[in-house]
Amino acid sequence: MKQGTFTILDNARLARDTFRMVLEGDCSAVTGSGQFVQVSVPGLYLRRPFSVSDRDGDRIVLVYKQVGKGTAAMAAMAPGGTLDLVTGLGRGFDVAAAGERSLLVGGSVGTAPLLLLARELQAAGKAFDVALGFGDAGLAFYVQEFKALGAQVKVATQDGSLGREGLVTDAIRALDGTYDYFYCCGSKVMMRVVSEALPFAGECSMEERMGCGTGICYGCSIPTTAGMRRVCADGPVFRKEEIVWERI
Ligand SMILES: Cc1cc2nc3c(=O)[nH]c(=O)nc-3n(C[C@H](O)[C@H](O)[C@H](O)COP(=O)(O)OP(=O)(O)OC[C@H]3O[C@@H](n4cnc5c(N)ncnc54)[C@H](O)[C@@H]3O)c2cc1C
Ligand code: FES
Repeated sequence: MKQGTFTILDNARLARDTFRMVLEGDCSAVTGSGQFVQVSVPGLYLRRPFSVSDRDGDRIVLVYKQVGKGTAAMAAMAPGGTLDLVTGLGRGFDVAAAGERSLLVGGSVGTAPLLLLARELQAAGKAFDVALGFGDAGLAFYVQEFKALGAQVKVATQDGSLGREGLVTDAIRALDGTYDYFYCCGSKVMMRVVSEALPFAGECSMEERMGCGTGICYGCSIPTTAGMRRVCADGPVFRKEEIVWERI
């Protein structure tokens, strides 16, 4: 992990209450998709964790939903400003685990880290398709980006305003393909439903409120088959069979 000052190159609205921030700085500690950074928001004691959504050299992209005071302050930041980041945190997605054709499943802002994963899968010559679930069309993002990578993309929205009406499991059903591995990021309830519905192996990026974010306080621990494990240091990505869903 590495702490450093990053310059905000862009910070624009991507969807309703959802922003895309491009930051430039020393990204040498960022090793892959599914990892996260901890952002120090001026005036707030605890850093806020965000997945690395995309990366190009020393530039990283964060996609964040405005939910509270930290993300509201971030949404008001202008290009040219700086932020203090700790980068290179967590154990990310395992691209080597992908089989013949993988299924990427994103729920709401949990879609964010799947774009960098998709780029890594493509670079590794691994086939994949994408199923996304959003509340409504105004909250949707990255649909065209996944299509541009050659993936079949299906979307479900709760009100039917984009794609199928329903949940992300309906988007999965709409895909025309045979899959042998999945990668999932979204709410806990969504990831549990997806993990239980899919009859093959896969991995989920877990989310817990974080204190230190670096493995010291154990505040982010979740029950796994190997005992309590820290989302920030042992995860955030865990294999589906590691997670004890009924105790989450
Ligand atoms: C590993 C990891 C990766 C994440 N990646 C992203 C991402 O890519 N994009 C994104 O938008 N968000 C992501 N989050 C969630 C993000 O960290 C929180 O939304 C953010 O910290 C909220 O800060 P705030 O000050 O705006 O909200 P606060 O004022 O602290 O809280 C506002 C509301 O958000 C809830 N909340 C705060 N933090 C979390 C959390 N960690 N998990 C669940 N609920 C929370 C609070 O319970 C409260 O209801 C990630 C979280 C983790 C642990
Ligand atoms: S947040 Fe402190 S150990 Fe994970």
